[in-house]
Parts: sequence; structure tokens; C-alpha cells
Amino acid sequence: MELKGRTAVVTGSAVRVGRQICLELARRGANVVVNYRSSAGAAATLVSEMVELGVGGLAVQADVSVGQDVRSLGEAARAEFGHVDVLVNNASVFPRTPLATLTEEQWDESIGVNLKGPFLCSLEFGRRMASAGEGVIVNLSDWAAQRPYIDYLPYLVAKGGIITMTKAFAKELAPHVRVNAIAPGPIFPPLDLDAEEIEESRAGTLVGHWGSPTDIARAVAFLIEGSDFITGVVLPVDGGRLVV
Ligand SMILES: NC(=O)c1ccc[n+]([C@@H]2O[C@H](COP(=O)([O-])OP(=O)(O)OC[C@H]3O[C@@H](n4cnc5c(N)ncnc54)[C@H](OP(=O)(O)O)[C@@H]3O)[C@@H](O)[C@H]2O)c1
Repeated sequence: MELKGRTAVVTGSAVRVGRQICLELARRGANVVVNYRSSAGAAATLVSEMVELGVGGLAVQADVSVGQDVRSLGEAARAEFGHVDVLVNNASVFPRTPLATLTEEQWDESIGVNLKGPFLCSLEFGRRMASAGEGVIVNLSDWAAQRPYIDYLPYLVAKGGIITMTKAFAKELAPHVRVNAIAPGPIFPPLDLDAEEIEESRAGTLVGHWGSPTDIARAVAFLIEGSDFITGVVLPVDGGRLVV
């Protein structure tokens, strides 16, 4: 699917990796809906940058783990652009949750944002794409969903669920809607990662360096524009982290 003239919704996209995905899609001619939860200022700035690129942009506050918020996000996107062709499920929470102190609330939050959120968004946008006879969904998983490390159990379980959900929605929404996932390696460290952990992540790749948000953004664009024959796959973009 060519992005020029299309409309994309990217969840949790005001900052970090999501911001780069928005800019990549906008540079390729798509109107982009920037969904955010708390980063209102950054979302507004990003919309201005995309409008300067000559496409439409819209910032919409919504909690992807809440059904009514996701429906409102859909209504706002359709009111502005008519139809949504592309959904990128990028929003996430990544709290350190050591097993010794892990709580039910932490489980619920990770599953809510990282798994239920993409589910609700895929229902909201995917069913309409199927009715329209065209559409693409890209989910963000994680290389570690298949090789879990310690201290992040609920997050990793949610990201593992994304792999199955990607394949299940690919079947449910076939033949006209394609659904794929990206499994990033180390791209953008969370604020609480110390220098030693950052170095460990680097050393754990085959290529010997961290990736960049641009690596993910280009992979998202490839899954949308590169081939209409790819669906139900999980593409590692991880510098070889999975095979080390
Ligand atoms: N960064 C990496 O190295 C890496 C590695 C592997 C996988 N990934 C995956 O790649 C994606 C992007 O990574 P990232 O590090 O840029 O993500 P991130 O910083 O963890 O989260 C991106 C955004 O998600 C938003 N968000 C959180 N809860 C939300 C909710 N309930 N509703 C709507 N938005 C919500 C936040 O928006 P606000 O700021 O507006 O609150 C946040 O800025 C994520 O899915 C992540 O799991 C990243």
C-alpha cells in the first residue's frame, strides 16, 4: 500500500520511537494522527512539523487501554480525515517489576496498555479496514518476548501476546487487511537503565551497537509499502540480538 494520500494512526507517538514513525509516514505523504496519553506539548509540536511537510496531522489524547477512549480516538480521526488506512500499535509502558514485589496492579497495567490496547485499537480500526477492503496494521512487540529476561514479566508476557495476536488478526482480517509486527532490539533506553545495562544491551547484539528509532520507522514503512504479500509475520529489527 502506498502511503501517499493515506491516513495513519500511531498510538503513543508524541515522543521517542513513535515520533520517528510519525515523521517517516508523513515524509512518505500520509496524514498522521498522533495519539498521546500525557505528552500534549510534544504531540502538538510533532503535528506542526508534519503539517510543514505538507500532510495533515492531528493530536488526540486517549488511553489505549480504555475502550471508550479508543472509540473516541477513532471518531476524531474519521472526523478529520474520513477514513483510517493504517494503524501502528506503538504505545507501551515498560516498568521494572521485580518478581519479589510484583503486584496485581502492575500486571493489569502492563497487560492493559501493551496487550489490551492493541486489541482495542485493532477492533476499532481493523474491522472498518476489512469493510473498506483495504488496510494495514503494524504492532510493536519486542525481541525479548521470545527470550525473556528478568524483572519485566508482565511487559514481556504482553509482548508475547502481541505475537499471537498479530497472527490471529492477520487471519481474522484477511484477505484485504495485512497485520504484521516488529520485534525491536535495543533502540532507545528507558530513563532508569544504568550505564552497565546499556553497555550489556549493546554487547548483546551481533552488530555491536544500539539501533535507532529511524531503524524501526523504516521497518514500519517497509511493512506498509514494501510488499502487499507479507502478513502474519513478526520481523526482528534487533541487530541480531535474537540469534546471539
Ligand atoms: N525503546 C526500545 O528500545 C524498545 C525495545 C523493544 C521494544 N520496543 C517497543 O517499541 C515501541 C516504542 O518504544 P518506546 O521506547 O518509544 O515506547 P515508550 O517510550 O515505552 O512508550 C511510548 C509512549 O506510549 C505512551 N503510552 C503509555 N501508556 C499509554 C496509554 N495508556 N495510552 C496511550 N499511550 C500510552 C506514552 O505516551 P505519553 O508520553 O503521551 O504519556 C509513551 O510516550 C513500544 O511498543 C516498545 O514496547 C521498544
